[in-house]
Formats: sequence, structure tokens, C-alpha cells
Amino acid sequence: MKILGIETSCDECSVAVVENGTTILSNIVATQIEQHRQFQGVVPEIASRLHVEWIQAVTETALEKAEITNKELDGIAVTNRPGLLGSLLVGVNFAKAYSAALNLPIVAVDHIRAHLYASQIESPLQYPYIGLLVSGGHTIICIVHSYDDIEVLGTTIDDAVGEAFDKVAKHYNFGYPGGVAIDRLAQKGDSKVFMFPGSTLQKGQHKYDVSYSGLKSATINQLDLFWNGVDEKSPENIAASFQRVAIGTLVKKVKKAIEDTKIKRLGVGGGVAANSYLRKELLRLKDVEISFPSMALCGDNGAMIAALGYHYIKEGHLDNLNFTASARVAAFKKSYP
Ligand code: KG4
Ligand code: ZN
Repeated sequence: MKILGIETSCDECSVAVVENGTTILSNIVATQIEQHRQFQGVVPEIASRLHVEWIQAVTETALEKAEITNKELDGIAVTNRPGLLGSLLVGVNFAKAYSAALNLPIVAVDHIRAHLYASQIESPLQYPYIGLLVSGGHTIICIVHSYDDIEVLGTTIDDAVGEAFDKVAKHYNFGYPGGVAIDRLAQKGDSKVFMFPGSTLQKGQHKYDVSYSGLKSATINQLDLFWNGVDEKSPENIAASFQRVAIGTLVKKVKKAIEDTKIKRLGVGGGVAANSYLRKELLRLKDVEISFPSMALCGDNGAMIAALGYHYIKEGHLDNLNFTASARVAAFKKSYP
């Protein structure tokens, strides 16, 4: 079964063809990084306009690369939430038109679930596994019971981890996109030059929650307060010190979730899953089977949408053309084991 996956939730215009949920025949990611660089952040109106201009060509390229025609497709999966509304609507309406014209089944896919599924395309884990979703908009620690059943243990109570990377990088002019710039700088820095505060949420309802606004503000506004007074206040040292705490917070919570649930499998997803320090630190966890997506599947991509959509289509969970896009996260059930 060949599924066309369409992803336009933010600044990547991506279309993929995936066969039977696992074989990626093509995964075209047309990034808008260059167009947003001068603003040091994604400008929603520019993003949606570029999706309008690019989506047709990106789809044709995805079909060409997969060496199939659109007549050979068995269904369409498209991200309909969460994300920038104008950007989502471009993909959703394009997918609906494609589905209507070719009489193909269509399914709307939740971007968060797709990020949590991405690691399963190339190295599947047995269910349930602990899911760590770390992106520019979300930070979620959860139990993934199946591709469609996510039990949230903790989230950020303020900024997402990727957002903190982006804001710190923007403030210090480290480069754009911020996460990649900090990852690169940190490799040459000393992570103990600044002792920034980590998230202190530990009890009750908040035991798996994280917070990034304190760390972000400390790194941006209180550099001197947390400086060791000896070493250089260089970009490398700021980046490494910030990253140690930002990633350390996630690793601590994941460790706790694994200990409490006794689920010794971990699937990571989202743009921050590309972070080299996060990967290194998680791989140090003993007796835990970890699945990371390959780099192309960490950030936003159509392949994860097609791969997850395959399961819905195979099981007949289709949408009719009445569905719409939503900027908001769907309600996930939250529990505290
Ligand atoms: O999943 P994604 O592409 O888009 C959202 O759904 O948000 O994630 C984008 C986020 C950005 O905040 C970006 O700075 C971050 O992922 N990111 C990284 C790295 N690569 C991308 N953060 C830390 N280290 C990286 N290597
Ligand atoms: Zn994403």
C-alpha cells in the first residue's frame, strides 16, 4: 500500500511516498530556513505563502523520486494539527483536492503522534514504550501504548525545549536555526562555566513535567549571576552550559518515567531528537532499548505522516472531506502512575 504523506505545519514543505508504513520511497523536505533567517524565526504569513507556491512541485518531485505516478497511490495522509493554521490549511486543502480528484482515501494525521511514531519506521520497538517528543512547539514525556494511544506523563508547563534553544540562540546571535547552532557551538565549549538553574518540578502532578522559561531567562538575562567568575563568557561556553541543563532536565525525567513504569524501551522524536548531546546522554541509560529517528526523520517530514497514516488507512479509519485544520494540540489523556 503506497501512501502519500503531506506535511506543512510550520516551515518545511514536505511530501513523501511510503510503502506499507516502513519503506520510504521518497521524502522531499523543502525547507524555508533561508526565507525566515533574516527574521530569526518563522513568520507565519511568509510560511503559508511559500507552501502555496511550493506544494505542487514538491508533490511532483516526491512522486518522481518514488518512481510512481499518482494513479499508483493507495491513499493520502496529511497533517491537520497542531501547527501554524495558515500553513496547515495549505496542506489540508491540497490533500483534499488530490483525494477528491483521484478518488483516494484520505486521513488527517496529528503531527505530535507522527513525531512519536517516526522512530518506529526504521527501528521499531515493542509496545508500550516511553515516548519523548522534543520539538520547537512541544515537550512531552508519555507512554506510547500503540500508534494511536498516547498516555501523557508530563509536558512543559511553559516553553518547549526547542523554543528555549531558539530564543537563547536568537538573543546571542548564535545562528539560525537556533537548536543546530547551539548543538554545534556546545561541542567546543565548557558546560560548567555557567551553573544555570534547571527545572525544579519534582512532586505530585508535576513529577514528570518540565519548565524551560526559567533556564531561558537565566541564560539570557542573568549570565553574570550564574558565571563561575573564572572562565571566558564565550558563545561556546554559554551554549554548552545551557545545553547541559536543558538536556539534563529531559534525561532526568525520562529516567524517572522508565524507573516508575518499568518500561525499558524509549522512542525519541521531534527536531531536538537530532541533538548530539541528547543522543549521547540517553545512550548512557543502562538496559534501555532506544530508538532514535534518523536525522531526516527528526524534524518535520512527510514520511512520518505517510507511515502513521498507513495504519489508519489499513484499518479503515478514514476521514471524509469535512475535516479541517487546527492550530491546537488534541487533548491527550494525562495520568500519574
Ligand atoms: O520538529 P521540528 O522540526 O518542528 C516542530 O514541530 O516544532 O522541531 C524544530 C525544533 C527547533 O526548535 C530547532 O531549533 C530544534 O528543533 N532543533 C534542535 C536541533 N535541530 C533542530 N535543537 C537542538 N539540537 C539540534 N541539533
Ligand atoms: Zn514538528
